[in-house]
Amino acid sequence: MGKITVTSLLLGILIHVIVVYADVKNLNIWPMPSSVSHGYNTLYIAKDFKLRTYQSKYADASGILKDGFTKLVDIIKGAHVIDYNYPGSSSSAILQGIHVIVASPSDELQYGVDESYNLDVPMQGKAAYALLKAQTIYGALHGLQTFSQLCNFNISTRAIEVRQVPWTISDQPRFSYRGLLIDTSRHYLSLPVIKKVIDSMAYAKLNVLHWHIVDTQSFPLEIPSYPKLWNGAYSLEERYTMADAAEIVRYAQRQGINVLSELDIPGHAQSWGVGYPSLWPSDKCMEPLDVSNEFTFKLIEGVLSDFSKIFKYKFVHLGGDEVDTTCWEKTPHVSEWLKKKNMNGTDAYEYFVLRAQKIAMSLGYEVVNWEETFNHFGNKLDRKTVVHNWLGGGVAERVVAAGLRCIVSNQGKWYLDHLDSTWQDFYMYEPLTNITSPAKQKLVIGGEVCMWGEHIDASDIEQTIWPRAAAAAERLWTSSNQLAKDSQDVYPRLSHFRCLLNQRGVAASPVNGYGRNVPSGPGSCYQQ
Ligand SMILES: *[C@@H]1O[C@H](CO)[C@@H](O)[C@H](O)[C@H]1NC(C)=O
Ligand SMILES: *[C@@H]1O[C@H](CO)[C@@H](O)[C@H](O)[C@H]1NC(C)=O
Ligand SMILES: *[C@@H]1O[C@H](CO)[C@@H](O)[C@H](O)[C@H]1NC(C)=O
Repeated sequence: MGKITVTSLLLGILIHVIVVYADVKNLNIWPMPSSVSHGYNTLYIAKDFKLRTYQSKYADASGILKDGFTKLVDIIKGAHVIDYNYPGSSSSAILQGIHVIVASPSDELQYGVDESYNLDVPMQGKAAYALLKAQTIYGALHGLQTFSQLCNFNISTRAIEVRQVPWTISDQPRFSYRGLLIDTSRHYLSLPVIKKVIDSMAYAKLNVLHWHIVDTQSFPLEIPSYPKLWNGAYSLEERYTMADAAEIVRYAQRQGINVLSELDIPGHAQSWGVGYPSLWPSDKCMEPLDVSNEFTFKLIEGVLSDFSKIFKYKFVHLGGDEVDTTCWEKTPHVSEWLKKKNMNGTDAYEYFVLRAQKIAMSLGYEVVNWEETFNHFGNKLDRKTVVHNWLGGGVAERVVAAGLRCIVSNQGKWYLDHLDSTWQDFYMYEPLTNITSPAKQKLVIGGEVCMWGEHIDASDIEQTIWPRAAAAAERLWTSSNQLAKDSQDVYPRLSHFRCLLNQRGVAASPVNGYGRNVPSGPGSCYQQ
């Protein structure tokens, strides 16, 4: 008898495992966790849903967990008015709260911070608590985001329920750099708009806001060391004070998102000369920044020194793309200088980039540069340089072969301003294509989707970012064995996530292929 019981028990477990595994396709969690299993019961979320933290080594002095929990409750309760007196909502199967246990007392958010978590939602009601365990507060925040996606408003009971309990989820990111670029030079973006973008990034578990702050067209940021730089802003209103920038960093950090600040030098820097015209080779030829002028480097040092007071991420991005050196070669005093130094334009480009790298490193940063620097003089770049791909495929392969680290943003696949790139393109683009050795794979630290700002402002930024950025977010978060081989397999789940974003007030566009779509006609959000 014992034998039969054990056998049928094992068989039962086996069937359960198969059912759960097959079921993963129909789960509405985005991005998909590394491992998920669930049952088929339902629990209601208590009216006074509580956060419990005893046994946690993390003391939450800065209130990051408390804020994360408040945000969780807001998003799960935000879409409907909950009526606890409604007939049918008085079930005894109640989830009282979440017990969060964080192992590390530190809330330092640096590159490579442990973002893993384990989430268990029990089956029994009454005094039940979900259990969320993480190494760091930032793993715990991801766990809260996942939990939020397990919650549904039930229209018959007017209450929030967690379906399919018990849940056992264990999860961790595939890549430690999962970025989104915003561009505040081509169009200014106000603080509330940037904060909304940050909130939505957290929903998709993206963890780096690459802030392309200044460029050719405008210089909106205050630089205390050189107070005339923001004369290059479009208007007095379209400026960020240092305190504004610090607020963006603080706001992002509290949701586990680092800010990668960028100075795109020397090629994308015309606006710098509005306040300091001597940075221009001449008033007819205004970029790249004058390589022959010592003041150029003194100023860059001042800017980066001011940066280092608020942008605490270990990386700074120093651009280096699209440097057309004809301006240097054609401007008499610069070409004189080149001759004296025995350099041509390409040599001077290399000289500029390497000198700027040294300045940033002397302030404690590691440097990210766009891929042209690697393509032109990769063997001269500091060995700690992270090369940021954008021009096309096959670059990461060459960068890691040279022993450098890489961030992948292939413009044909992951540029959000390319409206003809489909969500399927975003989903299927694999950063590790043709990179097989584990040691080389490690050098690809992740990827980034880029929301260049020429045609973007507050009116359309959300629907251009979402849902396509979410497709890349799953590619960057989800372990390779859980990634869909065919993007059509994730279409219903991505559609569901897009509707969830809409429910939360994010203007994500329909999932029907290209970027910034409008609904094709009357119909349900779930069938666009
Ligand atoms: C909503 O709650 C009712 C009553 O408990 C239940 O019968 C129904 O299945 C729930 N709806 C969904 C979609 O789970
Ligand atoms: C610039 O000079 C270097 C040698 O210093 C040379 O290798 C390179 O081909 C030259 N580039 C051009 C465009 O003339
Ligand atoms: C990967 O390698 C194969 C075979 O060498 C090649 O055909 C393909 O173009 C490569 N893919 C990329 C994206 O470089």
